[in-house]
Amino acid sequence: MDRITNIRVEEKKYHDQCYDTYDLFEPGSWLHKPVTTVINLINQYKDQEYISILDLGAGVGRNSIPIAESIKPRNGKVVCVDLLESAIAKLMSYSQQFGVEELDPMFEVNLSTERMIELLKRQFAGWEIEQLIVKSLAFEINRNGQPVKLTSDCITFVAKKS
Ligand SMILES: C[S@@+](CC[C@H](N)C(=O)[O-])C[C@H]1O[C@@H](n2cnc3c(N)ncnc32)[C@H](O)[C@@H]1O
Repeated sequence: MDRITNIRVEEKKYHDQCYDTYDLFEPGSWLHKPVTTVINLINQYKDQEYISILDLGAGVGRNSIPIAESIKPRNGKVVCVDLLESAIAKLMSYSQQFGVEELDPMFEVNLSTERMIELLKRQFAGWEIEQLIVKSLAFEINRNGQPVKLTSDCITFVAKKS
């Protein structure tokens, strides 16, 4: 198996197990709360109508469900994308449980940070870019008895039509 295929297989195993073991918003798990940036953004946009949110790598909805709850009365929309069938299945079930609707495409986003930013900027040309944050994340995990460092860029992009 090549290196990338192996990483995908192991990442799937890790997330499948995680989503199976922990409930959404379960205290003591990493699904306990939405990320701080998301909580801040929900407050910042609490009066806006017709907001669209794109959550790439949405998982089971730790961020998108609270966002959907907040924007539902104001005609907002959250589009959730995840690679894993297990994430999408749980997301659909949680979104029913929390009384919010979601769109559920299941595919892999395979773009560099630079390319993703370029596409977002092109798509939202002429809009006011309110936030563009790139946060580098790194986690140490144990995979099959070996320590593994996972690294990723987390992009927050907020654009407003002026
Ligand atoms: C660490 S989890 C975070 C989930 C969610 N954003 C949260 O904060 O709870 C990362 C999620 O991104 C998904 N993912 C990772 N790489 C992906 C890719 N290239 N395309 C689509 N989804 C991906 C994984 O399946 C996993 O559900």
